Amino acid sequence: MKISIIGTGYVGTVTGVCFADMGHQIYFVDIDQKKLNAVNSGKSPFFEPDLDELIEKNRKKITTTMDISEAIKQTDLTMICVGTPQKRDGSSDLRFIIDAAHTIGKALVNNDKYHTVIVKSTVLPGTTGKVVQPVLEQESGKKAPVDFGIGSNPEFLKEGSAVKDFFHTDRIVIGANDPKTKKTMEDLYKPLLAPIFTTDIQTAEMIKYVSNAFLATKISFSNEIGNLCKANQIDSYEVFQGVGMDKRINPHFFRSGIGFGGSCFPKDIHALIAFAESQAIDTKILKAVLKTNDDQPQKLIALLKKHLDIQGKKIGVLGLSFKPETDDIRESRAIPVITELLVAGAEVIAYDPIAMPEFSVLFPNILYTDTARGVFTADAIIIITEWPEFSRLDYSGKIIIDGRRILKAKREAAVYEGLCW
Ligand code: UDX
Repeated sequence: MKISIIGTGYVGTVTGVCFADMGHQIYFVDIDQKKLNAVNSGKSPFFEPDLDELIEKNRKKITTTMDISEAIKQTDLTMICVGTPQKRDGSSDLRFIIDAAHTIGKALVNNDKYHTVIVKSTVLPGTTGKVVQPVLEQESGKKAPVDFGIGSNPEFLKEGSAVKDFFHTDRIVIGANDPKTKKTMEDLYKPLLAPIFTTDIQTAEMIKYVSNAFLATKISFSNEIGNLCKANQIDSYEVFQGVGMDKRINPHFFRSGIGFGGSCFPKDIHALIAFAESQAIDTKILKAVLKTNDDQPQKLIALLKKHLDIQGKKIGVLGLSFKPETDDIRESRAIPVITELLVAGAEVIAYDPIAMPEFSVLFPNILYTDTARGVFTADAIIIITEWPEFSRLDYSGKIIIDGRRILKAKREAAVYEGLCW
Protein backbone atom coordinates (compact mmCIF):
# COMPACT_ATOMS: atom_id res chain seq x y z
CA MET A 1 0.00 0.00 0.00
CA LYS A 2 1.11 3.63 -0.40
CA ILE A 3 0.77 5.44 2.91
CA SER A 4 1.33 9.10 3.81
CA ILE A 5 2.31 9.90 7.39
CA ILE A 6 1.52 13.43 8.56
CA GLY A 7 3.97 14.35 11.34
CA THR A 8 7.43 12.88 11.91
CA GLY A 9 7.39 12.88 15.69
CA TYR A 10 7.65 9.68 17.71
CA VAL A 11 4.42 8.07 16.57
CA GLY A 12 4.67 9.10 12.90
CA THR A 13 8.30 8.19 12.31
CA VAL A 14 8.22 4.83 14.10
CA THR A 15 4.90 3.84 12.49
CA GLY A 16 5.97 4.92 9.00
CA VAL A 17 9.36 3.22 9.10
CA CYS A 18 7.86 -0.01 10.47
CA PHE A 19 5.23 -0.01 7.71
CA ALA A 20 8.05 0.52 5.17
CA ASP A 21 9.79 -2.50 6.68
CA MET A 22 6.53 -4.44 6.11
CA GLY A 23 6.85 -3.52 2.41
CA HIS A 24 4.67 -0.41 2.08
CA GLN A 25 5.65 2.80 0.26
CA ILE A 26 5.82 5.66 2.78
CA TYR A 27 5.47 9.40 2.22
CA PHE A 28 6.55 11.36 5.31
CA VAL A 29 5.08 14.86 5.52
CA ASP A 30 6.17 17.47 8.05
CA ILE A 31 6.26 21.27 8.32
CA ASP A 32 9.78 20.94 9.79
CA GLN A 33 12.26 20.43 6.90
CA LYS A 34 15.02 19.59 9.41
CA LYS A 35 13.16 16.47 10.50
CA LEU A 36 12.62 15.42 6.89
CA ASN A 37 16.32 16.04 6.14
CA ALA A 38 17.23 13.72 9.00
CA VAL A 39 15.06 10.95 7.54
CA ASN A 40 16.46 11.68 4.04
CA SER A 41 19.94 11.14 5.45
CA GLY A 42 18.88 7.77 6.90
CA LYS A 43 18.59 9.05 10.47
CA SER A 44 15.71 9.34 12.93
CA PRO A 45 14.91 12.94 13.97
CA PHE A 46 15.23 11.75 17.61
CA PHE A 47 17.02 9.07 19.63
CA GLU A 48 15.23 5.68 19.54
CA PRO A 49 16.94 2.27 19.60
CA ASP A 50 16.89 0.31 16.25
CA LEU A 51 15.16 3.17 14.35
CA ASP A 52 18.20 4.49 12.42
CA GLU A 53 19.05 1.02 11.15
CA LEU A 54 15.44 0.45 10.04
CA ILE A 55 15.33 3.80 8.19
CA GLU A 56 18.63 2.97 6.45
CA LYS A 57 17.37 -0.51 5.50
CA ASN A 58 14.13 0.87 3.99
CA ARG A 59 15.31 4.12 2.41
CA LYS A 60 14.08 3.09 -1.07
CA LYS A 61 10.52 2.79 0.24
CA ILE A 62 10.58 6.19 1.97
CA THR A 63 9.88 9.60 0.39
CA THR A 64 9.71 12.87 2.31
CA THR A 65 7.82 16.03 1.35
CA MET A 66 6.43 19.18 2.93
CA ASP A 67 3.59 19.06 0.39
CA ILE A 68 0.55 17.21 1.79
CA SER A 69 -1.33 17.46 -1.52
CA GLU A 70 1.48 15.67 -3.33
CA ALA A 71 1.54 12.97 -0.67
CA ILE A 72 -2.24 12.49 -0.82
CA LYS A 73 -2.12 12.26 -4.60
CA GLN A 74 0.58 9.56 -4.44
CA THR A 75 -0.99 7.44 -1.69
CA ASP A 76 -4.08 5.39 -0.76
CA LEU A 77 -4.14 6.06 2.94
CA THR A 78 -3.09 8.89 5.23
CA MET A 79 -2.25 8.58 8.93
CA ILE A 80 -2.49 11.78 10.96
CA CYS A 81 0.29 11.53 13.57
CA VAL A 82 0.68 15.13 14.70
CA GLY A 83 1.04 16.12 18.35
CA THR A 84 -1.87 16.94 20.68
CA PRO A 85 -0.02 18.97 23.31
CA GLN A 86 -1.52 20.03 26.63
CA LYS A 87 -3.11 23.44 27.02
CA ARG A 88 -2.68 25.52 30.23
CA ASP A 89 -6.02 24.24 31.59
CA GLY A 90 -4.88 20.66 31.02
CA SER A 91 -7.19 20.12 28.04
CA SER A 92 -5.93 18.76 24.73
CA ASP A 93 -4.72 21.24 22.08
CA LEU A 94 -6.15 20.19 18.70
CA ARG A 95 -4.57 22.99 16.61
CA PHE A 96 -2.19 20.70 14.70
CA ILE A 97 -4.91 18.08 14.10
CA ILE A 98 -7.31 20.69 12.75
CA ASP A 99 -4.59 22.26 10.55
CA ALA A 100 -3.77 18.84 9.11
CA ALA A 101 -7.46 18.11 8.49
CA HIS A 102 -7.90 21.39 6.57
CA THR A 103 -4.87 20.68 4.36
CA ILE A 104 -5.84 17.03 3.77
CA GLY A 105 -9.41 18.11 2.98
CA LYS A 106 -8.18 20.58 0.36
CA ALA A 107 -5.95 17.88 -1.14
CA LEU A 108 -8.92 15.51 -1.44
CA VAL A 109 -10.83 17.95 -3.69
CA ASN A 110 -9.03 16.90 -6.91
CA ASN A 111 -8.17 13.41 -5.72
CA ASP A 112 -10.30 11.05 -7.80
CA LYS A 113 -9.02 7.85 -6.13
CA TYR A 114 -10.73 6.55 -2.94
CA HIS A 115 -8.57 7.67 -0.02
CA THR A 116 -8.69 6.67 3.65
CA VAL A 117 -7.80 9.08 6.47
CA ILE A 118 -6.77 7.54 9.81
CA VAL A 119 -6.23 9.46 13.05
CA LYS A 120 -3.30 7.92 14.95
CA SER A 121 -2.61 10.89 17.21
CA THR A 122 -3.90 10.60 20.78
CA VAL A 123 -7.29 12.35 20.65
CA LEU A 124 -10.21 12.42 23.04
CA PRO A 125 -13.35 10.46 22.19
CA GLY A 126 -15.41 12.18 19.49
CA THR A 127 -12.52 14.17 18.01
CA THR A 128 -12.29 12.19 14.76
CA GLY A 129 -16.06 12.19 14.20
CA LYS A 130 -16.93 15.67 15.45
CA VAL A 131 -13.75 17.67 14.59
CA VAL A 132 -11.67 15.96 11.89
CA GLN A 133 -14.45 14.52 9.69
CA PRO A 134 -16.49 17.77 9.40
CA VAL A 135 -13.34 19.71 8.41
CA LEU A 136 -12.40 17.09 5.80
CA GLU A 137 -15.94 17.12 4.37
CA GLN A 138 -16.21 20.91 4.40
CA GLU A 139 -12.83 21.39 2.66
CA SER A 140 -13.17 18.54 0.16
CA GLY A 141 -16.88 18.91 -0.59
CA LYS A 142 -16.97 15.13 -0.23
CA LYS A 143 -18.70 12.80 2.27
CA ALA A 144 -17.30 10.00 4.43
CA PRO A 145 -17.43 7.01 4.05
CA VAL A 146 -18.93 7.27 0.51
CA ASP A 147 -16.19 9.44 -1.03
CA PHE A 148 -13.33 8.81 1.44
CA GLY A 149 -12.72 6.57 4.42
CA ILE A 150 -12.14 7.74 7.98
CA GLY A 151 -11.05 5.87 11.08
CA SER A 152 -8.98 5.81 14.25
CA ASN A 153 -5.92 3.66 15.08
CA PRO A 154 -4.38 4.61 18.42
CA GLU A 155 -0.79 3.50 19.11
CA PHE A 156 0.65 2.04 22.32
CA LEU A 157 4.37 2.41 21.58
CA LYS A 158 6.74 3.04 24.51
CA GLU A 159 9.75 5.31 24.06
CA GLY A 160 12.99 3.35 24.18
CA SER A 161 11.37 0.17 22.78
CA ALA A 162 9.01 1.61 20.14
CA VAL A 163 10.20 -0.49 17.18
CA LYS A 164 9.96 -3.72 19.19
CA ASP A 165 6.55 -2.62 20.51
CA PHE A 166 5.29 -2.07 16.94
CA PHE A 167 6.22 -5.54 15.75
CA HIS A 168 5.39 -7.31 19.03
CA THR A 169 2.26 -5.50 20.14
CA ASP A 170 -0.28 -7.04 22.53
CA ARG A 171 -3.09 -5.83 20.32
CA ILE A 172 -4.00 -3.49 17.50
CA VAL A 173 -7.01 -1.25 18.02
CA ILE A 174 -8.98 -0.17 14.98
CA GLY A 175 -11.83 2.33 15.13
CA ALA A 176 -14.04 2.29 12.03
CA ASN A 177 -17.72 3.04 11.49
CA ASP A 178 -17.85 1.58 7.98
CA PRO A 179 -16.90 -1.90 6.63
CA LYS A 180 -14.53 -0.57 3.94
CA THR A 181 -12.29 1.32 6.36
CA LYS A 182 -12.48 -1.62 8.77
CA LYS A 183 -11.25 -4.04 6.06
CA THR A 184 -8.54 -1.66 4.81
CA MET A 185 -7.09 -1.35 8.31
CA GLU A 186 -7.42 -5.04 9.20
CA ASP A 187 -5.65 -6.00 5.96
CA LEU A 188 -2.90 -3.48 6.69
CA TYR A 189 -2.10 -5.01 10.08
CA LYS A 190 -2.87 -8.68 9.34
CA PRO A 191 0.80 -9.57 8.57
CA LEU A 192 1.78 -8.66 12.15
CA LEU A 193 -0.22 -11.68 13.37
CA ALA A 194 -1.26 -9.70 16.47
CA PRO A 195 -4.79 -9.70 17.94
CA ILE A 196 -6.87 -7.01 16.21
CA PHE A 197 -9.61 -5.36 18.25
CA THR A 198 -12.02 -3.55 15.93
CA THR A 199 -14.66 -1.24 17.33
CA ASP A 200 -16.29 2.09 16.53
CA ILE A 201 -14.16 5.22 16.22
CA GLN A 202 -14.85 6.94 19.53
CA THR A 203 -14.48 3.72 21.50
CA ALA A 204 -11.05 3.25 19.94
CA GLU A 205 -10.18 6.82 20.94
CA MET A 206 -11.29 6.11 24.52
CA ILE A 207 -9.28 2.84 24.68
CA LYS A 208 -6.08 4.85 24.20
CA TYR A 209 -6.76 7.23 27.08
CA VAL A 210 -8.03 4.56 29.42
CA SER A 211 -4.98 2.37 28.72
CA ASN A 212 -2.58 5.17 29.64
CA ALA A 213 -4.69 6.27 32.60
CA PHE A 214 -4.78 2.76 34.02
CA LEU A 215 -1.04 2.16 33.57
CA ALA A 216 -0.35 5.43 35.40
CA THR A 217 -2.88 4.43 38.09
CA LYS A 218 -0.97 1.16 38.62
CA ILE A 219 2.24 3.17 39.10
CA SER A 220 0.72 5.67 41.56
CA PHE A 221 -0.96 2.80 43.42
CA SER A 222 2.41 1.04 43.67
CA ASN A 223 3.97 4.28 44.95
CA GLU A 224 1.27 4.81 47.58
CA ILE A 225 1.65 1.23 48.79
CA GLY A 226 5.41 1.61 48.38
CA ASN A 227 5.46 4.56 50.80
CA LEU A 228 3.51 2.48 53.33
CA CYS A 229 5.89 -0.46 52.85
CA LYS A 230 8.87 1.87 53.33
CA ALA A 231 7.45 3.08 56.66
CA ASN A 232 7.20 -0.56 57.80
CA GLN A 233 10.56 -1.81 56.49
CA ILE A 234 8.77 -3.96 53.88
CA ASP A 235 10.16 -4.24 50.32
CA SER A 236 7.34 -3.11 47.99
CA TYR A 237 8.94 -4.97 45.06
CA GLU A 238 8.67 -8.22 47.00
CA VAL A 239 5.06 -7.36 47.81
CA PHE A 240 4.12 -6.66 44.18
CA GLN A 241 5.90 -9.81 43.03
CA GLY A 242 3.48 -11.79 45.18
CA VAL A 243 0.49 -9.61 44.31
CA GLY A 244 1.26 -9.74 40.59
CA MET A 245 1.11 -13.53 40.49
CA ASP A 246 -2.66 -13.20 40.57
CA LYS A 247 -3.63 -13.35 36.88
CA ARG A 248 -6.40 -10.79 37.56
CA ILE A 249 -3.64 -8.35 38.62
CA ASN A 250 -0.40 -9.30 36.65
CA PRO A 251 3.01 -8.02 37.75
CA HIS A 252 3.58 -5.30 35.13
CA PHE A 253 3.88 -1.57 35.88
CA PHE A 254 4.19 -1.98 39.64
CA ARG A 255 7.75 -0.65 39.79
CA SER A 256 7.34 1.79 42.68
CA GLY A 257 9.71 4.73 43.14
CA ILE A 258 10.02 8.34 42.04
CA GLY A 259 6.95 8.22 39.74
CA PHE A 260 6.05 8.53 36.07
CA GLY A 261 7.09 11.18 33.57
CA GLY A 262 7.21 11.37 29.79
CA SER A 263 5.12 12.96 27.04
CA CYS A 264 2.11 10.72 27.54
CA PHE A 265 0.93 9.76 31.02
CA PRO A 266 0.83 13.24 32.64
CA LYS A 267 -0.61 14.89 29.52
CA ASP A 268 -3.22 12.22 28.84
CA ILE A 269 -4.48 12.15 32.43
CA HIS A 270 -4.79 15.92 32.51
CA ALA A 271 -6.71 15.79 29.22
CA LEU A 272 -9.03 13.04 30.48
CA ILE A 273 -9.76 14.98 33.69
CA ALA A 274 -10.50 18.16 31.68
CA PHE A 275 -12.67 16.15 29.28
CA ALA A 276 -14.69 14.74 32.19
CA GLU A 277 -14.97 18.11 33.92
CA SER A 278 -16.29 19.67 30.70
CA GLN A 279 -19.21 17.24 31.20
CA ALA A 280 -19.46 17.90 34.96
CA ILE A 281 -18.15 14.41 35.71
CA ASP A 282 -15.74 14.14 38.67
CA THR A 283 -12.59 11.98 38.34
CA LYS A 284 -11.36 11.47 41.93
CA ILE A 285 -9.10 8.53 41.07
CA LEU A 286 -7.36 10.27 38.17
CA LYS A 287 -6.75 13.39 40.27
CA ALA A 288 -5.29 11.22 43.01
CA VAL A 289 -3.00 9.51 40.48
CA LEU A 290 -1.50 12.89 39.56
CA LYS A 291 -1.30 14.09 43.20
CA THR A 292 0.48 10.91 44.33
CA ASN A 293 2.89 11.28 41.39
CA ASP A 294 3.58 14.94 42.21
CA ASP A 295 4.33 14.07 45.85
CA GLN A 296 6.96 11.34 45.24
CA PRO A 297 9.87 13.75 44.51
CA GLN A 298 9.17 15.52 47.83
CA LYS A 299 9.36 12.19 49.63
CA LEU A 300 12.76 11.52 48.08
CA ILE A 301 14.07 14.92 49.22
CA ALA A 302 12.71 14.24 52.72
CA LEU A 303 14.75 11.01 52.83
CA LEU A 304 17.88 12.96 51.85
CA LYS A 305 17.22 15.53 54.59
CA LYS A 306 17.13 12.67 57.13
CA HIS A 307 20.88 12.19 56.50
CA LEU A 308 22.15 15.61 55.40
CA ASP A 309 21.47 19.30 55.79
CA ILE A 310 21.19 20.15 52.08
CA GLN A 311 22.08 23.87 52.42
CA GLY A 312 25.51 24.47 50.82
CA LYS A 313 26.11 20.78 50.10
CA LYS A 314 26.96 19.25 46.70
CA ILE A 315 24.29 16.77 45.62
CA GLY A 316 24.83 14.35 42.72
CA VAL A 317 22.01 13.28 40.41
CA LEU A 318 22.23 10.10 38.33
CA GLY A 319 19.74 10.13 35.43
CA LEU A 320 17.90 13.06 33.82
CA SER A 321 15.74 11.44 31.09
CA PHE A 322 12.20 10.38 32.10
CA LYS A 323 13.21 6.73 31.62
CA PRO A 324 16.18 4.75 30.26
CA GLU A 325 16.92 4.34 26.49
CA THR A 326 15.61 7.81 25.59
CA ASP A 327 16.96 11.36 25.62
CA ASP A 328 13.44 12.64 26.31
CA ILE A 329 13.25 14.77 29.49
CA ARG A 330 9.57 15.73 29.22
CA GLU A 331 8.01 15.59 32.71
CA SER A 332 11.15 13.80 33.94
CA ARG A 333 11.16 13.38 37.71
CA ALA A 334 14.62 14.94 37.70
CA ILE A 335 12.96 18.32 37.05
CA PRO A 336 11.04 18.68 40.37
CA VAL A 337 13.88 16.99 42.33
CA ILE A 338 16.61 19.33 41.04
CA THR A 339 14.31 22.34 41.39
CA GLU A 340 13.80 21.41 45.07
CA LEU A 341 17.54 20.89 45.66
CA LEU A 342 18.36 24.33 44.23
CA VAL A 343 15.65 25.97 46.32
CA ALA A 344 17.15 24.27 49.39
CA GLY A 345 20.52 25.86 48.58
CA ALA A 346 22.38 22.83 47.24
CA GLU A 347 24.95 22.78 44.43
CA VAL A 348 23.87 20.13 41.92
CA ILE A 349 26.12 17.97 39.74
CA ALA A 350 24.33 15.69 37.29
CA TYR A 351 24.99 12.93 34.75
CA ASP A 352 22.90 11.21 32.09
CA PRO A 353 24.24 9.05 29.22
CA ILE A 354 22.33 11.00 26.49
CA ALA A 355 19.87 13.56 27.94
CA MET A 356 22.33 16.22 29.24
CA PRO A 357 22.16 18.45 26.13
CA GLU A 358 18.34 18.64 26.42
CA PHE A 359 18.42 19.05 30.20
CA SER A 360 21.09 21.76 30.19
CA VAL A 361 18.74 23.98 28.18
CA LEU A 362 16.26 23.76 31.06
CA PHE A 363 18.90 23.86 33.85
CA PRO A 364 21.93 25.84 32.63
CA ASN A 365 22.69 26.64 36.30
CA ILE A 366 23.84 23.18 37.48
CA LEU A 367 27.07 21.22 36.90
CA TYR A 368 27.25 18.34 34.41
CA THR A 369 29.89 15.63 34.23
CA ASP A 370 30.98 13.41 31.34
CA THR A 371 30.92 10.20 33.36
CA ALA A 372 28.65 8.74 36.02
CA ARG A 373 31.70 8.53 38.31
CA GLY A 374 31.91 12.32 38.00
CA VAL A 375 28.96 12.80 40.38
CA PHE A 376 30.77 10.83 43.09
CA THR A 377 32.55 14.04 44.19
CA ALA A 378 29.17 14.97 45.76
CA ASP A 379 28.22 14.71 49.47
CA ALA A 380 25.25 12.53 48.55
CA ILE A 381 23.81 11.01 45.35
CA ILE A 382 20.22 10.70 44.17
CA ILE A 383 19.27 8.09 41.54
CA ILE A 384 16.43 9.22 39.21
CA THR A 385 16.66 7.05 36.06
CA GLU A 386 17.54 3.36 36.05
CA TRP A 387 20.12 3.40 33.23
CA PRO A 388 21.81 -0.05 33.05
CA GLU A 389 25.28 1.48 33.53
CA PHE A 390 24.27 2.68 37.00
CA SER A 391 24.10 -0.98 38.07
CA ARG A 392 27.84 -1.28 37.34
CA LEU A 393 29.07 1.64 39.52
CA ASP A 394 30.94 1.24 42.86
CA TYR A 395 28.77 2.87 45.54
CA SER A 396 30.91 2.01 48.55
CA GLY A 397 31.29 4.84 51.06
CA LYS A 398 28.51 6.97 49.54
CA ILE A 399 25.16 8.31 50.78
CA ILE A 400 22.63 7.09 48.22
CA ILE A 401 18.96 8.07 47.95
CA ASP A 402 17.48 5.74 45.34
CA GLY A 403 14.30 6.50 43.39
CA ARG A 404 14.70 3.58 40.94
CA ARG A 405 16.00 0.55 42.90
CA ILE A 406 19.60 0.04 41.83
CA LEU A 407 20.33 -3.04 43.99
CA LYS A 408 24.14 -2.69 43.71
CA ALA A 409 23.82 0.68 45.46
CA LYS A 410 21.70 -0.96 48.18
CA ARG A 411 24.43 -3.57 48.74
CA GLU A 412 27.43 -1.24 48.70
CA ALA A 413 26.46 2.27 49.90
CA ALA A 414 27.53 3.48 53.36
CA VAL A 415 24.08 5.06 53.79
CA TYR A 416 21.24 3.86 51.55
CA GLU A 417 17.60 4.87 51.33
CA GLY A 418 15.25 3.25 48.80
CA LEU A 419 12.17 5.41 48.20
CA CYS A 420 9.67 2.55 48.48
CA TRP A 421 11.81 -0.35 49.72
C1 UDX B 1 3.64 5.17 27.66
C2 UDX B 1 2.83 3.90 27.47
O1 UDX B 1 3.48 2.81 28.09
C3 UDX B 1 2.66 3.61 25.98
O2 UDX B 1 1.83 2.46 25.78
C4 UDX B 1 2.00 4.81 25.30
O3 UDX B 1 1.87 4.61 23.94
C5 UDX B 1 2.82 6.04 25.56
O4 UDX B 1 3.00 6.25 26.95
P1 UDX B 1 6.19 5.86 27.63
O5 UDX B 1 5.71 7.12 28.24
O6 UDX B 1 7.12 5.91 26.49
O7 UDX B 1 4.91 4.97 27.17
O8 UDX B 1 6.94 5.06 28.77
P2 UDX B 1 6.59 3.97 29.89
O9 UDX B 1 7.56 2.87 29.74
O10 UDX B 1 5.16 3.66 29.89
O11 UDX B 1 6.98 4.78 31.22
C6 UDX B 1 6.27 5.92 31.56
C7 UDX B 1 6.79 6.43 32.92
O12 UDX B 1 6.37 5.56 33.95
C8 UDX B 1 8.32 6.50 33.00
O13 UDX B 1 8.69 7.67 33.70
C9 UDX B 1 8.68 5.26 33.81
O14 UDX B 1 9.87 5.43 34.53
C10 UDX B 1 7.48 5.17 34.76
N1 UDX B 1 7.20 3.80 35.26
C11 UDX B 1 6.86 2.82 34.37
C12 UDX B 1 7.25 3.56 36.65
O15 UDX B 1 7.54 4.45 37.44
N2 UDX B 1 6.94 2.31 37.10
C13 UDX B 1 6.59 1.29 36.25
O16 UDX B 1 6.32 0.18 36.73
C14 UDX B 1 6.56 1.55 34.84
